Amino acid sequence: MYVIAGATGRVGSVTARSLLAEGANVRVLVRRPSDAENWKEQGAEVRVVRLDDRAVLTAALHGCAGFFVLLPFDLTAAHPDDHAERLTTSIAGAVADANVPHVVMLSSAGADLAEGTGPITGLYALEQALQATGTVLTALRSGHFQEKVSDVIEVARESGVFPVFAASADAPLPMVATADLGAVAARALQSPPDVSENVDVVGPSYSERAVATLLGEALGRELQVATIPEEAWVGAFVQAGFRPRIAESLAELYRADEQGLLAPRGDRTVRAHTPLETTIGRVLAAR
Ligand SMILES: NC(=O)c1ccc[n+]([C@@H]2O[C@H](COP(=O)([O-])OP(=O)(O)OC[C@H]3O[C@@H](n4cnc5c(N)ncnc54)[C@H](OP(=O)(O)O)[C@@H]3O)[C@@H](O)[C@H]2O)c1
Repeated sequence: MYVIAGATGRVGSVTARSLLAEGANVRVLVRRPSDAENWKEQGAEVRVVRLDDRAVLTAALHGCAGFFVLLPFDLTAAHPDDHAERLTTSIAGAVADANVPHVVMLSSAGADLAEGTGPITGLYALEQALQATGTVLTALRSGHFQEKVSDVIEVARESGVFPVFAASADAPLPMVATADLGAVAARALQSPPDVSENVDVVGPSYSERAVATLLGEALGRELQVATIPEEAWVGAFVQAGFRPRIAESLAELYRADEQGLLAPRGDRTVRAHTPLETTIGRVLAAR
């Protein structure tokens, strides 16, 4: 039995569906009872669980062969660090209490660093906490999700501007499709390693200018790339509606990227191949 958190999300849903397609026993975790029916129809067992409820999560993990988990970011939290810490304590506690033999964690490039990476420091803490439980941990570390393009679709469609939070729009960066990550997670659950490992999942590389070109083609309008200087990042995030603490954290994340702190440094690399055009098509079709 494999237990999948975040089953209503992008990576977790593909992980669960990939396992079900191979005939594996799957128990998905959802937060709302209304999300259960669809999964039951697909052949999954369902538990209604919040990741910060250690006792209920422990019960849902009992007897499983592997657990896929993520640390959901809450960009509306007043205290994002407290939110991440509460989830981490509960998740690692439940993994220890239920004696889970193998955990596949959706981590990130840069999660080997304790500080200076904004929200990724929460992933560092979760990796450490899970390691300390004695489980075998497969940490899947990816760079940018290709789906991050959805954050700028509205502004691009309406204004024709494609904002870039970097000094240059021409630096190529690897970007992975969440569908590829879900497939990698499903494979990892089915073939657990003997010892813990950090796996870089590296997608094809694109510059932000190339992303703007591809998005513009899909939207049917030419987009103007506008690089936003570092000193204006926090203000721009606040203007976009983020609380000051979150804005600072996001700015730190973008600075870390500029400094190369999010480069792959894991034990091995898995290449992912879905091209950005495909992901942009999927994102636009789902709107
Ligand atoms: N964006 C990037 O470029 C990037 C890069 C590297 C790593 N990551 C990691 O990827 C994660 C996001 O993965 P994703 O895109 O697959 O997620 P997603 O689509 O944003 O979905 C989040 C999932 O987590 C569930 N969830 C949220 N809070 C929960 C809670 N307290 N208890 C139980 N379930 C909860 C949500 O359930 P509901 O449907 O009930 O809300 C949903 O299923 C980030 O948190 C980050 O750690 C992101």
